[in-house]
Amino acid sequence: MKITADQLRNLYLDFFKSKGHAVISGASLIPENDPTVLFTTAGMHPLVPYLMGKMPHPAGTRLTDVQKCVRTGDIDEVGDSAHLTFFEMLGNWSLNDYFKKEAISWSFEFLTTKLGFSPDQLSVTVFRGEEGIPADEEAVAIWKSLGIPEERIYRLPREDNWWGPAGETGPCGPDTEMFIDTGKPACGPDCRPGCHCGKFIEIWNDVFMQYQKTEDGKFVPLGRHNVDTGMGVERTICMMNGLDTVYDTDVFAPIMAKIRELSGKESFETPEDVRSSRVVADHMRTATFILGDQKGGVTPGNVGANYVLRRLIRSAVRHARRLGIAPGFTEKMAAVIVDEYKHVYPELDQNRERVFQELLAEETRFGKTLDEGKREFDKTVAGIRRKNEFMGAKDPNYVPDTQISGKQAFRLYDTYGYPLEMTQELAKEAGFTVDVAGYQECFKAHQELSRANVGSAKSGLAEHSEETTALHTATHLLHKALKIVLGDHCNQKGSNITAERLRLDFTHGEKMTPEQIKAVEDLVNEQIKADLPVYRDMMTLEEARAAGATALFSSKYTDEKLSVYTIGKTRDDFFSKEVCTGPHVEHTGVLGHFKIKKEESSSAGVRRIKAVLER
Ligand code: SER
Repeated sequence: MKITADQLRNLYLDFFKSKGHAVISGASLIPENDPTVLFTTAGMHPLVPYLMGKMPHPAGTRLTDVQKCVRTGDIDEVGDSAHLTFFEMLGNWSLNDYFKKEAISWSFEFLTTKLGFSPDQLSVTVFRGEEGIPADEEAVAIWKSLGIPEERIYRLPREDNWWGPAGETGPCGPDTEMFIDTGKPACGPDCRPGCHCGKFIEIWNDVFMQYQKTEDGKFVPLGRHNVDTGMGVERTICMMNGLDTVYDTDVFAPIMAKIRELSGKESFETPEDVRSSRVVADHMRTATFILGDQKGGVTPGNVGANYVLRRLIRSAVRHARRLGIAPGFTEKMAAVIVDEYKHVYPELDQNRERVFQELLAEETRFGKTLDEGKREFDKTVAGIRRKNEFMGAKDPNYVPDTQISGKQAFRLYDTYGYPLEMTQELAKEAGFTVDVAGYQECFKAHQELSRANVGSAKSGLAEHSEETTALHTATHLLHKALKIVLGDHCNQKGSNITAERLRLDFTHGEKMTPEQIKAVEDLVNEQIKADLPVYRDMMTLEEARAAGATALFSSKYTDEKLSVYTIGKTRDDFFSKEVCTGPHVEHTGVLGHFKIKKEESSSAGVRRIKAVLER
């Protein structure tokens, strides 16, 4: 069945309306109630307080909506046929109202009567149980009553059939996932729903939220029976229209057309060009939605959500350049995206000017450094090639040098803002490699030097200068001090650092008293005086959380190693521990004297502090 995103949204919401659900509007992309994630990652996310039963939802106990979501755990996979950093999720919820029987029956009814799938195409997975949590035989029985045979019901462990919580703690539970068999041959005897070969595609997830994950990592009964379901818009229309990639769907059509137009190409042929065009499409869509969000406030920066936004824009700029797209393109892309989506997300149009201005400013900033860096890189490669030619002419056994040295790679980073992976990408295109270990050595040596040089003025890229590095570490201390003085509800909402000052936005309802400000300053200055070491460790998100780190990233899928910065006497006896990209100083003693210059309101329920280091 051919279907557009508009038709799918309407079909879904109408169907659940007919089952007594209230259609509610989706929430902001910036989470309101969950400090442990940067963005809203699922439709249930804004509903957590209601799922927990903390208060009744004003629209009732049966809800449905379409929610904008950002998941950045797979950001490096973007460019293949399926991964996206932004997507829309259709969902329906029972807040302690109906449970498994209705949820599964309605999912089946919608898939077969509204989307036109044959029951024979459907395979499902259910939770097989583990110590303390029983197998979901109830779900099995319901699927069987609907005609799904035993051999298409797969009982799988927690890693497959358990969802949530969205952040570190909160409601979660066993789920039953629905898969469409594409009819492709199985990749082997173990091929089953969940296998990534492309035979089975997940279309929907019904979560039975009966449990709660506590701060100490335990699953305890929630005392409520909620249902939380989620269906991805892009993936579903891709599948229903028989397309190979989400980038071929109607939601990406105008975006891809614009990329082709701006690059002057009718189509992209090489795998690299295809990948670049997808990265531009995905990242520009996500950046436009973050900047155009109803809550505003997230602008490109160096920490948390601000950093993700910066990374998205900068990566889009790099890939656009690869495709020969002229500068100034971000605004043109955003215009297409705003116009395409404004009938569903009017906030995009309301914030149009802000979106354009921020994109242009970031593109210009990054463009300048990129130009200079590229010239530097080309010079380096040309120099090595000249050397190879010269030496090769003299000595027939000479092995040509095809490596960018760690020192050169570090210079590109330090002076031109080229992250290592970008230099690696350029090197690959030129048939070169990069001495990564050498780069890391330079990086470390540089940090030590910075420490020795504290106080002396130093030029360099603003975002990695000694001043901003110090202010960045001070931001971690401040964040923790706020939690201690005002309470654990103080969560970082945004951060912006210049060479002169830090700015931290955090959740807190009232103006701080002069006593509280003084207490926070004192606490930060105590940590500075104690000259605590700053440790950097690489670990997975799960490990980070287990170690007690504040982790603002959330993804069910990633195994990516993240860097965790610990400020404390030891790694276990610490003042602050946060997942963060860094960089940071190595000892707090170099920070100088911490002073809060201003405490003001930023938006409803969010305060803003500006502070400096007097050094
Ligand atoms: N929260 C579940 C998911 O993200 C169902 O919506 O898959």
